[in-house]
Formats: sequence, C-alpha cells, structure tokens
Amino acid sequence: MAKELYAGPRKDPYKIIIGANTVTKKNLLPLLKDHKKLLLISDSGVPKSIIKNITAICKLKSKILSFTIEKGEKSKSISNFNKIINFLAKKNFDRGDAIIAVGGGVVGDISGYVASSYMRGIQYIQIPTTLLAQVDSSVGGKTAINISAGKNLVGAFYNPKGVIIDITSLKTLTKRELMAGLAEVIKYGLIKNKVLFDLLQQNTQKIMNLNNGVIEKMIYESISTKASIVTKDEKEKGIRAILNFGHTVGHAIEAQSKYRKILHGEAVAKGMLVASKISLSENMITDTEFNKIRDLLRSYKFDLSLEHYKYSDLKPFIFRDKKIQKGKLNLILLTGISNAVISNKFDPNNLKKSIG
Ligand SMILES: NC(=O)c1ccc[n+]([C@@H]2O[C@H](COP(=O)([O-])OP(=O)(O)OC[C@H]3O[C@@H](n4cnc5c(N)ncnc54)[C@H](O)[C@@H]3O)[C@@H](O)[C@H]2O)c1
Repeated sequence: MAKELYAGPRKDPYKIIIGANTVTKKNLLPLLKDHKKLLLISDSGVPKSIIKNITAICKLKSKILSFTIEKGEKSKSISNFNKIINFLAKKNFDRGDAIIAVGGGVVGDISGYVASSYMRGIQYIQIPTTLLAQVDSSVGGKTAINISAGKNLVGAFYNPKGVIIDITSLKTLTKRELMAGLAEVIKYGLIKNKVLFDLLQQNTQKIMNLNNGVIEKMIYESISTKASIVTKDEKEKGIRAILNFGHTVGHAIEAQSKYRKILHGEAVAKGMLVASKISLSENMITDTEFNKIRDLLRSYKFDLSLEHYKYSDLKPFIFRDKKIQKGKLNLILLTGISNAVISNKFDPNNLKKSIG
C-alpha cells in the first residue's frame, strides 16, 4: 500500500504519494482535473518508459505536449527557461493549464520556476524520478535556475499541486546518483529523525538492493522530516537552516572542485562528517555517538577522505556561505544523534582542525 502525506502551508497543503508503481490513473487523473493542456518537462536521461506511462494517462484527460532538455546541471539555465516560457506562449497555454515535471532535481527546479512565473503562476505537478528529487528537491517549494554568478541564484518559493513518487523509478539510477540522494536521507536521520537513523543502520543491504518496503519507509520518513521543518519555516528564516547540516563544508568542497568531479551528495557526506567532528570537539556529542555516525556513513561506502582538501583552500568558500550573520558563521551542529542546532558559538579552531 502506498503511503501518503501532506506538505506546504497548513491552509493549503499538497499531497505526496509514495510507493511502488504509484503513477496510475487513480493517483494522477485527480490532479489533472480542469487542465485542458499539459506540458510534460523532462530531460534526456529520464527513461522513456516512465514518460510513456505518464503521457498515456494524461492523454485520457488533457492535451499533452512535451519539452525535453539536455540532462545535466547546465540545463537549469536562463536560456532553457526562456525557451520553455516561449514554447508555452506559442502553444497558447493559459493560467488554467499546467506543467508536469518528470525527472531529477534539475527538471523539478526549472519546471517549478517556469510554473511560478509564466502568466504570474500556473500549477505544476512533480513526478520526481531520482532519489535526491524524491526526498529533497520535490518537497519544500524551492524552485530555481542557475546564472553565471552562481547556482540557484534566481528562483521562487512556489509549491506544486501534488507530488507522486514511484520508488520503482530508482531501479534505473546509477549507483552514484543513488548515493547522492542517500546522503540527504542520512542527513534527515542525523538532524531529526531517530526512526530513520535506526532504519538506515539496520537495513544497509536492503536499502542498497532497493527493497521496496524499506525504500518506501525510508522515503516516507525523509519527506515527513523535511515537510515538518519546512511547514514551520517556509521562507527559510530560522529552523529550516538545519536542513543545511553538512552543506556549508559540502558546498565549499563542491565549489572548490568546480562542481565537476564530485556530486553534491558526495560532498555533503564529507561535510556531515566534518560537522559531526566539530560537534565532538565541542563536547556536544560523545565519542560513541560520533563513532555511530561515522560507521553509518562508512557502511554505505561514502568516500569520507579529506586528503585532497586543505582548510586554507576551503576557507574562502566556507565564509562566503549564506550562513554568515553579523560577521559570524552559523554552522549546523549536533547535540546528539537526530538532534541538530544552529550555532555560531563554536571555536573556529575546531572547524579548522576538523578539516586538517
Ligand atoms: N529545490 C530544492 O529544494 C532542491 C534541493 C536539493 C537539490 N536541488 C537541485 O537538484 C539538482 C540535482 O538533482 P538530481 O541529483 O536529481 O540530479 P539531476 O536532475 O541532474 O538527475 C541526475 C541524472 O539522473 C538522470 N535520471 C533521472 N531520473 C532517472 C531515472 N529514473 N533513471 C535513470 N536516470 C535518471 C537524469 O537524466 C540526470 O542525468 C541540483 O540542481 C540541485 O540544485 C534542489
């Protein structure tokens, strides 16, 4: 049985359906109500079988057009944004029509941003097909495109009308892409969700083998954690910052690697270990807790080495992070497993020491 939960503003939440083979007439058709035209946006790496199934269902209710971008982060661009909004205009899409985003975070982010701005906002539905998109980018309402000055610098908070997660779509993902999503899952376990932490600890093999029951529960727990945080702080003014656990150093590692050699999740795994080390040095967590965290990351075979990174090289990127307030760096640290806090009171030497 698929699981369901709600995210978004309390007054107007959107439904998220999670399970195996969830892209069905029963789940999709109610979301298409009243839309005469749909634009399915995907990228060249999304398996054709997924698109074919969605298109066949949509055709029962609406006229469906499609727009495919090249796979890869470069596609989250102003140029593609321009092409898509002009395509919508040329095909006479109006406010009653909708967009369906089918793919990873790249497709979800650009589709959401197009939806937020075309005719001052049309509805969109997310059908995320990577683990990262299923547990992270499809929930929380952040949409964005990249500009040459930086990633995600142009965007909007704009919630989808609904999200359908089919866990069987993970079967075609590369191991590397799967691991990138898994880093975010581990993050939810470390910052807030002990049930998830235990599930991750006890089911390594089942998770790596994509066992349906365990994956469904894992994604459900991840999204409920993100949804509960985001509902409290939609516009990222306070508590939502704990979702950045591991990301300050992770972003610095990514930026120093020029986003090429290392995937976001791989950098976040290293960043989470660094943040845990600082928490240990600050006596906020015990040796036993630190070892449990390191062992969990190791059990999923994350490369946690920092030998290619020097503190002096990462420092400018760390201190360029958005988390600087009144000249002080805010870091997300742990006061225990599944307990994150926002702190600017740590000893900077512990940050330096944790990278080496
Ligand atoms: N909006 C948010 O809150 C938020 C949160 C986290 C990340 N993001 C954004 O998400 C993006 C990264 O997303 P991602 O990791 O999903 O990368 P991605 O969208 O680039 O997808 C990774 C690759 O997997 C392919 N793919 C997609 N579905 C597949 C499937 N079922 N089988 C096989 N291959 C498949 C894609 O074609 C692509 O080549 C970044 O741009 C990041 O900024 C946004």
